[in-house]
Amino acid sequence: MIYGSPPVPTESFGLQFENPIGLAAGMDKKGENVQNWEHLGFGWIEIGGITLHGQDGNPKPRMFRSTKHNALINRMGFNNPGSELMAESLAKQKAKKWASIPVGINLGKSKITPNEEAEQDYAGTMERLWGFADLFVVNVSSPNTPNLRELQSGSELDRILTACNSVNANAAKVTGTSPKPILVKISPDLSDDQLKAVADTAIAQGCAGIVATNTTTARPGEDKVMNQSGGLSGKPLRNRSTEVIHLLYAHTNGNMPIVGVGGISDVESAWEKIGAGASLLQLYSAMVFEGPGVNKAINKGLNGKLKAHGYRCLADAVGHSHRS
Ligand SMILES: Cc1cc2nc3c(=O)[nH]c(=O)nc-3n(C[C@H](O)[C@H](O)[C@H](O)COP(=O)(O)O)c2cc1C
Repeated sequence: MIYGSPPVPTESFGLQFENPIGLAAGMDKKGENVQNWEHLGFGWIEIGGITLHGQDGNPKPRMFRSTKHNALINRMGFNNPGSELMAESLAKQKAKKWASIPVGINLGKSKITPNEEAEQDYAGTMERLWGFADLFVVNVSSPNTPNLRELQSGSELDRILTACNSVNANAAKVTGTSPKPILVKISPDLSDDQLKAVADTAIAQGCAGIVATNTTTARPGEDKVMNQSGGLSGKPLRNRSTEVIHLLYAHTNGNMPIVGVGGISDVESAWEKIGAGASLLQLYSAMVFEGPGVNKAINKGLNGKLKAHGYRCLADAVGHSHRS
Protein backbone atom coordinates (compact mmCIF):
# COMPACT_ATOMS: atom_id res chain seq x y z
CA MET A 1 0.00 0.00 0.00
CA ILE A 2 1.16 3.53 -0.75
CA TYR A 3 2.43 5.08 2.46
CA GLY A 4 -0.21 6.99 4.38
CA SER A 5 -2.97 7.05 1.76
CA PRO A 6 -5.97 4.73 1.56
CA PRO A 7 -6.23 2.84 -1.76
CA VAL A 8 -8.76 3.97 -4.37
CA PRO A 9 -7.80 1.48 -7.07
CA THR A 10 -8.43 2.20 -10.71
CA GLU A 11 -7.21 1.31 -14.17
CA SER A 12 -6.65 3.49 -17.23
CA PHE A 13 -5.03 2.83 -20.61
CA GLY A 14 -3.85 -0.58 -19.43
CA LEU A 15 -2.07 0.74 -16.32
CA GLN A 16 -3.06 0.00 -12.73
CA PHE A 17 -3.26 2.90 -10.27
CA GLU A 18 -3.49 2.37 -6.52
CA ASN A 19 -5.15 5.77 -6.32
CA PRO A 20 -6.05 8.32 -9.01
CA ILE A 21 -4.10 11.33 -7.75
CA GLY A 22 -0.99 12.15 -9.73
CA LEU A 23 1.72 14.72 -9.27
CA ALA A 24 1.13 17.27 -12.05
CA ALA A 25 3.96 18.16 -14.40
CA GLY A 26 6.29 20.95 -13.36
CA MET A 27 6.96 20.10 -9.73
CA ASP A 28 9.63 17.47 -10.35
CA LYS A 29 10.81 19.14 -13.55
CA LYS A 30 14.20 17.44 -13.48
CA GLY A 31 12.88 14.05 -12.43
CA GLU A 32 15.10 14.14 -9.36
CA ASN A 33 12.81 12.40 -6.93
CA VAL A 34 11.15 9.68 -8.96
CA GLN A 35 11.10 7.10 -6.17
CA ASN A 36 9.96 9.45 -3.39
CA TRP A 37 6.61 10.94 -4.41
CA GLU A 38 4.65 7.82 -3.54
CA HIS A 39 5.60 8.43 0.08
CA LEU A 40 3.43 11.54 -0.08
CA GLY A 41 0.44 9.46 -1.15
CA PHE A 42 0.55 10.00 -4.91
CA GLY A 43 -0.82 7.16 -7.04
CA TRP A 44 1.28 8.22 -10.03
CA ILE A 45 3.60 11.01 -11.14
CA GLU A 46 4.41 13.04 -14.20
CA ILE A 47 7.98 14.33 -14.34
CA GLY A 48 9.23 17.15 -16.59
CA GLY A 49 8.52 19.06 -18.85
CA ILE A 50 11.59 17.89 -20.57
CA THR A 51 12.88 19.24 -23.86
CA LEU A 52 15.34 17.82 -26.38
CA HIS A 53 17.96 20.45 -25.52
CA GLY A 54 18.81 21.66 -22.02
CA GLN A 55 17.74 25.23 -21.26
CA ASP A 56 17.70 27.70 -18.35
CA GLY A 57 14.12 28.86 -18.74
CA ASN A 58 13.01 32.45 -18.16
CA PRO A 59 14.81 34.93 -15.87
CA LYS A 60 13.82 34.94 -12.19
CA PRO A 61 11.51 35.83 -10.58
CA ARG A 62 9.28 33.48 -12.56
CA MET A 63 6.98 31.97 -9.95
CA PHE A 64 4.48 33.94 -7.85
CA ARG A 65 1.97 32.94 -5.24
CA SER A 66 -1.21 34.53 -4.00
CA THR A 67 -2.32 33.05 -0.71
CA LYS A 68 -5.41 35.27 -0.97
CA HIS A 69 -6.49 33.42 -4.14
CA ASN A 70 -4.82 30.04 -3.44
CA ALA A 71 -3.20 30.57 -6.81
CA LEU A 72 0.19 30.44 -8.46
CA ILE A 73 1.41 32.24 -11.53
CA ASN A 74 4.47 30.82 -13.23
CA ARG A 75 6.51 31.64 -16.30
CA MET A 76 9.25 29.08 -15.76
CA GLY A 77 9.77 28.42 -19.49
CA PHE A 78 10.78 24.73 -19.36
CA ASN A 79 13.95 25.08 -17.30
CA ASN A 80 15.40 21.57 -17.53
CA PRO A 81 18.68 19.78 -18.20
CA GLY A 82 17.51 18.41 -21.56
CA SER A 83 16.82 14.88 -22.70
CA GLU A 84 20.39 13.62 -22.76
CA LEU A 85 21.35 14.55 -19.19
CA MET A 86 17.89 13.53 -18.06
CA ALA A 87 18.38 10.04 -19.51
CA GLU A 88 21.67 9.72 -17.59
CA SER A 89 20.10 10.88 -14.34
CA LEU A 90 17.09 8.60 -14.69
CA ALA A 91 19.32 5.62 -15.52
CA LYS A 92 21.29 6.20 -12.31
CA GLN A 93 18.12 6.40 -10.26
CA LYS A 94 16.64 3.34 -11.91
CA ALA A 95 19.78 1.32 -11.12
CA LYS A 96 19.31 2.09 -7.41
CA LYS A 97 15.59 2.38 -6.73
CA TRP A 98 12.63 3.25 -8.91
CA ALA A 99 9.03 4.26 -8.25
CA SER A 100 6.51 1.50 -7.62
CA ILE A 101 3.79 3.74 -9.12
CA PRO A 102 3.28 4.63 -12.81
CA VAL A 103 5.68 7.30 -14.06
CA GLY A 104 4.68 9.71 -16.81
CA ILE A 105 7.06 11.97 -18.71
CA ASN A 106 5.93 15.42 -19.86
CA LEU A 107 7.40 16.34 -23.22
CA GLY A 108 7.94 20.02 -24.00
CA LYS A 109 9.63 21.77 -26.92
CA SER A 110 13.04 23.46 -26.73
CA LYS A 111 12.85 27.22 -27.18
CA ILE A 112 15.56 27.12 -29.89
CA THR A 113 13.60 24.64 -31.99
CA PRO A 114 11.26 26.42 -34.42
CA ASN A 115 7.64 25.26 -34.50
CA GLU A 116 8.21 23.90 -38.03
CA GLU A 117 10.61 21.33 -36.53
CA ALA A 118 8.70 20.74 -33.32
CA GLU A 119 8.04 17.08 -34.07
CA GLN A 120 11.78 16.33 -34.00
CA ASP A 121 12.05 17.87 -30.54
CA TYR A 122 9.12 15.95 -29.03
CA ALA A 123 9.93 12.65 -30.72
CA GLY A 124 13.68 13.00 -30.04
CA THR A 125 13.05 13.41 -26.32
CA MET A 126 10.64 10.51 -26.33
CA GLU A 127 13.20 8.29 -28.03
CA ARG A 128 15.88 9.08 -25.42
CA LEU A 129 13.55 8.65 -22.46
CA TRP A 130 11.30 5.86 -23.71
CA GLY A 131 12.66 3.24 -21.34
CA PHE A 132 11.90 5.31 -18.26
CA ALA A 133 8.22 6.12 -18.76
CA ASP A 134 4.98 4.21 -18.33
CA LEU A 135 3.20 6.95 -20.29
CA PHE A 136 4.01 10.16 -22.14
CA VAL A 137 2.24 13.52 -22.18
CA VAL A 138 2.72 15.72 -25.22
CA ASN A 139 2.56 19.21 -23.80
CA VAL A 140 1.49 21.68 -26.46
CA SER A 141 -0.25 23.96 -23.96
CA SER A 142 2.36 25.71 -21.81
CA PRO A 143 1.92 29.49 -22.12
CA ASN A 144 5.59 30.15 -21.34
CA THR A 145 7.35 29.11 -24.55
CA PRO A 146 6.65 31.57 -27.37
CA ASN A 147 4.02 30.24 -29.82
CA LEU A 148 3.98 26.77 -28.25
CA ARG A 149 0.21 26.75 -27.93
CA GLU A 150 -0.12 27.18 -31.70
CA LEU A 151 1.01 23.55 -31.88
CA GLN A 152 -2.45 22.52 -30.71
CA SER A 153 -3.87 23.29 -34.13
CA GLY A 154 -4.82 20.25 -36.22
CA SER A 155 -1.99 19.89 -38.71
CA GLU A 156 0.80 20.83 -36.27
CA LEU A 157 -0.44 18.45 -33.60
CA ASP A 158 -0.96 15.78 -36.22
CA ARG A 159 2.69 16.03 -37.30
CA ILE A 160 3.95 15.84 -33.71
CA LEU A 161 1.79 12.83 -32.85
CA THR A 162 2.75 11.02 -36.07
CA ALA A 163 6.44 11.42 -35.15
CA CYS A 164 5.85 10.33 -31.53
CA ASN A 165 3.76 7.33 -32.63
CA SER A 166 6.52 6.23 -34.93
CA VAL A 167 9.20 6.41 -32.18
CA ASN A 168 6.82 4.64 -29.82
CA ALA A 169 6.07 1.80 -32.24
CA ASN A 170 9.72 1.37 -33.12
CA ALA A 171 10.89 1.29 -29.48
CA ALA A 172 8.19 -1.26 -28.68
CA LYS A 173 9.30 -3.43 -31.58
CA VAL A 174 12.99 -3.26 -30.65
CA THR A 175 12.28 -4.14 -27.01
CA GLY A 176 9.62 -6.72 -27.79
CA THR A 177 7.06 -4.86 -25.68
CA SER A 178 3.94 -2.77 -26.29
CA PRO A 179 3.80 0.89 -27.30
CA LYS A 180 3.24 3.21 -24.33
CA PRO A 181 0.18 5.38 -23.80
CA ILE A 182 0.56 8.88 -25.26
CA LEU A 183 -1.68 11.68 -23.95
CA VAL A 184 -2.08 15.27 -25.11
CA LYS A 185 -2.17 18.12 -22.59
CA ILE A 186 -4.59 20.85 -23.51
CA SER A 187 -4.95 24.56 -22.71
CA PRO A 188 -8.03 25.91 -20.92
CA ASP A 189 -7.83 29.01 -23.12
CA LEU A 190 -9.01 27.31 -26.32
CA SER A 191 -12.51 27.87 -27.72
CA ASP A 192 -15.02 25.00 -27.64
CA ASP A 193 -14.39 24.25 -31.30
CA GLN A 194 -10.64 24.24 -30.79
CA LEU A 195 -10.94 21.90 -27.80
CA LYS A 196 -13.05 19.50 -29.86
CA ALA A 197 -10.57 19.68 -32.73
CA VAL A 198 -7.67 18.73 -30.43
CA ALA A 199 -9.69 15.78 -29.12
CA ASP A 200 -10.51 14.67 -32.68
CA THR A 201 -6.84 14.81 -33.69
CA ALA A 202 -5.82 12.90 -30.57
CA ILE A 203 -8.42 10.21 -31.27
CA ALA A 204 -7.47 9.95 -34.94
CA GLN A 205 -3.85 9.47 -33.89
CA GLY A 206 -4.75 6.72 -31.41
CA CYS A 207 -3.80 8.71 -28.31
CA ALA A 208 -4.59 7.12 -24.95
CA GLY A 209 -6.11 10.22 -23.39
CA ILE A 210 -6.17 13.95 -22.78
CA VAL A 211 -4.79 15.89 -19.81
CA ALA A 212 -7.12 18.79 -19.08
CA THR A 213 -5.87 21.35 -18.33
CA ASN A 214 -2.63 23.30 -18.30
CA THR A 215 -2.45 26.76 -16.69
CA THR A 216 -4.45 29.73 -18.02
CA THR A 217 -3.37 33.15 -19.23
CA ALA A 218 -6.83 34.46 -18.24
CA ARG A 219 -7.08 36.36 -14.95
CA PRO A 220 -10.27 35.93 -12.97
CA GLY A 221 -9.04 38.28 -10.20
CA GLU A 222 -7.09 41.52 -10.07
CA ASP A 223 -4.24 42.31 -7.70
CA LYS A 224 -0.50 42.79 -7.91
CA VAL A 225 0.43 39.12 -7.91
CA MET A 226 -2.35 38.26 -10.30
CA ASN A 227 -1.05 40.90 -12.68
CA GLN A 228 2.16 38.96 -13.30
CA SER A 229 2.41 37.43 -16.75
CA GLY A 230 2.48 33.64 -17.09
CA GLY A 231 0.19 30.71 -16.43
CA LEU A 232 -2.29 30.82 -13.56
CA SER A 233 -3.02 27.65 -11.57
CA GLY A 234 -4.85 26.71 -8.39
CA LYS A 235 -8.30 27.70 -7.20
CA PRO A 236 -9.11 30.31 -9.90
CA LEU A 237 -8.52 27.63 -12.56
CA ARG A 238 -10.85 25.08 -10.99
CA ASN A 239 -14.12 25.97 -12.75
CA ARG A 240 -12.69 26.45 -16.21
CA SER A 241 -10.75 23.21 -16.03
CA THR A 242 -13.89 21.33 -14.97
CA GLU A 243 -15.81 22.97 -17.81
CA VAL A 244 -13.22 21.75 -20.33
CA ILE A 245 -13.44 18.20 -18.94
CA HIS A 246 -17.25 18.32 -19.27
CA LEU A 247 -16.98 19.40 -22.87
CA LEU A 248 -14.35 16.79 -23.80
CA TYR A 249 -16.22 13.97 -22.09
CA ALA A 250 -19.45 14.86 -23.89
CA HIS A 251 -17.71 15.32 -27.23
CA THR A 252 -15.95 11.94 -27.00
CA ASN A 253 -19.00 10.12 -25.55
CA GLY A 254 -16.89 9.19 -22.56
CA ASN A 255 -14.67 7.01 -24.74
CA MET A 256 -11.45 8.96 -24.26
CA PRO A 257 -9.83 8.81 -20.81
CA ILE A 258 -9.37 12.29 -19.36
CA VAL A 259 -6.88 13.31 -16.69
CA GLY A 260 -8.48 16.13 -14.69
CA VAL A 261 -6.13 18.83 -13.40
CA GLY A 262 -6.66 22.42 -12.32
CA GLY A 263 -7.57 23.65 -8.86
CA ILE A 264 -8.03 20.27 -7.17
CA SER A 265 -7.42 20.84 -3.47
CA ASP A 266 -9.97 18.74 -1.57
CA VAL A 267 -12.50 15.95 -2.05
CA GLU A 268 -15.21 18.23 -3.46
CA SER A 269 -12.98 19.62 -6.19
CA ALA A 270 -11.74 16.09 -6.97
CA TRP A 271 -15.26 14.62 -7.07
CA GLU A 272 -16.42 17.43 -9.34
CA LYS A 273 -13.68 16.54 -11.86
CA ILE A 274 -14.63 12.84 -11.74
CA GLY A 275 -18.27 13.77 -12.23
CA ALA A 276 -17.33 15.91 -15.22
CA GLY A 277 -15.58 12.92 -16.79
CA ALA A 278 -12.03 12.61 -15.42
CA SER A 279 -10.76 9.05 -14.89
CA LEU A 280 -7.55 10.19 -13.22
CA LEU A 281 -6.55 13.38 -11.40
CA GLN A 282 -3.47 15.50 -10.89
CA LEU A 283 -2.54 18.40 -8.66
CA TYR A 284 0.29 20.86 -8.18
CA SER A 285 -0.87 24.08 -6.49
CA ALA A 286 -2.61 22.26 -3.63
CA MET A 287 0.75 20.78 -2.60
CA VAL A 288 1.90 24.37 -2.06
CA PHE A 289 -1.19 25.62 -0.22
CA GLU A 290 -2.44 22.51 1.59
CA GLY A 291 0.77 20.48 2.00
CA PRO A 292 1.27 16.80 1.24
CA GLY A 293 -1.57 15.66 3.55
CA VAL A 294 -3.94 16.69 0.75
CA ASN A 295 -3.58 13.34 -1.06
CA LYS A 296 -4.57 11.28 1.93
CA ALA A 297 -7.54 13.56 2.63
CA ILE A 298 -8.79 13.38 -0.97
CA ASN A 299 -8.42 9.59 -1.25
CA LYS A 300 -10.19 9.09 2.04
CA GLY A 301 -12.92 11.45 0.91
CA LEU A 302 -13.27 9.71 -2.47
CA ASN A 303 -13.86 6.36 -0.78
CA GLY A 304 -16.55 8.06 1.31
CA LYS A 305 -18.19 9.52 -1.83
CA LEU A 306 -18.14 6.16 -3.65
CA LYS A 307 -19.81 4.49 -0.70
CA ALA A 308 -22.36 7.25 -0.18
CA HIS A 309 -23.39 7.18 -3.87
CA GLY A 310 -23.36 3.38 -4.15
CA TYR A 311 -20.55 3.09 -6.71
CA ARG A 312 -18.54 -0.13 -6.63
CA CYS A 313 -15.38 1.53 -7.86
CA LEU A 314 -14.00 4.83 -9.09
CA ALA A 315 -14.45 3.91 -12.76
CA ASP A 316 -18.21 3.59 -12.21
CA ALA A 317 -18.36 7.19 -10.94
CA VAL A 318 -16.54 8.74 -13.91
CA GLY A 319 -18.84 11.17 -15.73
CA HIS A 320 -21.62 10.82 -13.12
CA SER A 321 -22.77 14.40 -13.45
CA HIS A 322 -23.61 13.75 -17.13
CA ARG A 323 -26.08 11.08 -16.04
CA SER A 324 -27.90 12.93 -13.28
C1 LIG B 1 5.58 26.17 -11.42
C2 LIG B 1 4.77 25.35 -12.38
C3 LIG B 1 5.41 24.70 -13.41
C4 LIG B 1 4.68 23.93 -14.33
N1 LIG B 1 5.34 23.26 -15.33
C5 LIG B 1 4.64 22.50 -16.20
C6 LIG B 1 5.30 21.75 -17.22
O1 LIG B 1 6.53 21.76 -17.33
N2 LIG B 1 4.54 21.03 -18.08
C7 LIG B 1 3.16 20.99 -17.98
O2 LIG B 1 2.52 20.32 -18.80
N3 LIG B 1 2.52 21.65 -17.01
C8 LIG B 1 3.22 22.39 -16.12
N4 LIG B 1 2.56 23.06 -15.12
C9 LIG B 1 1.07 22.97 -15.04
C10 LIG B 1 0.61 21.91 -14.05
O3 LIG B 1 1.05 20.63 -14.44
C11 LIG B 1 -0.93 21.92 -13.95
O4 LIG B 1 -1.49 21.65 -15.22
C12 LIG B 1 -1.47 23.27 -13.46
O5 LIG B 1 -0.66 23.80 -12.43
C13 LIG B 1 -2.92 23.15 -12.94
O6 LIG B 1 -2.98 22.32 -11.80
P1 LIG B 1 -3.09 22.91 -10.29
O7 LIG B 1 -4.19 23.92 -10.29
O8 LIG B 1 -3.33 21.72 -9.43
O9 LIG B 1 -1.76 23.56 -9.99
C14 LIG B 1 3.27 23.83 -14.19
C15 LIG B 1 2.63 24.47 -13.13
C16 LIG B 1 3.36 25.23 -12.22
C17 LIG B 1 2.64 25.92 -11.10
